[in-house]
Amino acid sequence: MTIQWYPGHMAKATRELEEYIKRVDVVVELADARIPEASRNPVLNEVLSGRPKVIAMMKKDMADDVVTKEWQQHFSQNGESVVLVNAKHNQGVSKLVQEVKRLAKPRMEALQKKGIQNRAIRAMIVGIPNVGKSTLINRLVGKNQADTGDKPGVTKGNRWLKVGKQMEVLDTPGILWPKFEDPEVGYKLAITGAIKDERLVFQDVVLYLIQQLHKRYPEALEARYKLSQLPEEGVEIFEAIGRKRGCLIAGGDVDFDKAAEIVLRDFRSQKLGSCSLEAPMDSY
Ligand code: G4P
Repeated sequence: MTIQWYPGHMAKATRELEEYIKRVDVVVELADARIPEASRNPVLNEVLSGRPKVIAMMKKDMADDVVTKEWQQHFSQNGESVVLVNAKHNQGVSKLVQEVKRLAKPRMEALQKKGIQNRAIRAMIVGIPNVGKSTLINRLVGKNQADTGDKPGVTKGNRWLKVGKQMEVLDTPGILWPKFEDPEVGYKLAITGAIKDERLVFQDVVLYLIQQLHKRYPEALEARYKLSQLPEEGVEIFEAIGRKRGCLIAGGDVDFDKAAEIVLRDFRSQKLGSCSLEAPMDSY
């Protein structure tokens, strides 16, 4: 997947998102719990049109629990509503539904005063690629409903799927483009699989990952790659991992591409444990 966002596309996508949001009572913004800041795009807050929003920190099972707690506190202190979700294993999903209902209450009461009774709460899922939007929608509605959208003749993007009796979710999630002028944000998005951008060199992405792991989880690196003492520099660790894993080219030099694939695969499949790549403290 290569994502190329041009200003024209972005302006159009923003307008469309704004139009969809006007049709809902609550917005569910998905963030990747491993990179809660890098996986969000501030443009969403600009098009909320006064709709309440809850942040669903997705893939909580893949992130460091301690750091996730810090993020939760950080967002709460900034007045944001937050729920931790592991959509793959159906954790936090009913809590999210409760939170959507709580946030929708004032709007639903206002509708009732206008004589509109018994309308289901309407929610929309919004987030960057690969953050878990489809997985969450399927969890919310039960697989059968979500699948019917793929049948020919059924137009996606216009159907409300039932979530229990009192709630509905738009069948198509809002896709936010990742935003990164800062190369570190780009690296984090590439590591977690949100982008595959040719502007980012694969070895640089993995070197950044190794540096982050060295800084945050050195024991995980030592244990996984049986390195008794970690070298000082990220590039030396990269090389040491390559040697340990036999990633060599003719002449005995390390095949960094091969070593990079191993490290990235290990990170994504949690062989290095549950690791977060950013913490609220980083920006202080
Ligand atoms: P998207 O619509 O936002 O693009 O994301 P999608 O739901 O397709 O999810 C992307 C990947 O993230 C999927 O993995 C999905 O299973 C995984 N995922 C979603 N939510 C969670 C979560 O809370 N925890 C974990 N651990 N994974 C989650 P995949 O590798 O593409 O497929 P598969 O592993 O399910 O076969």
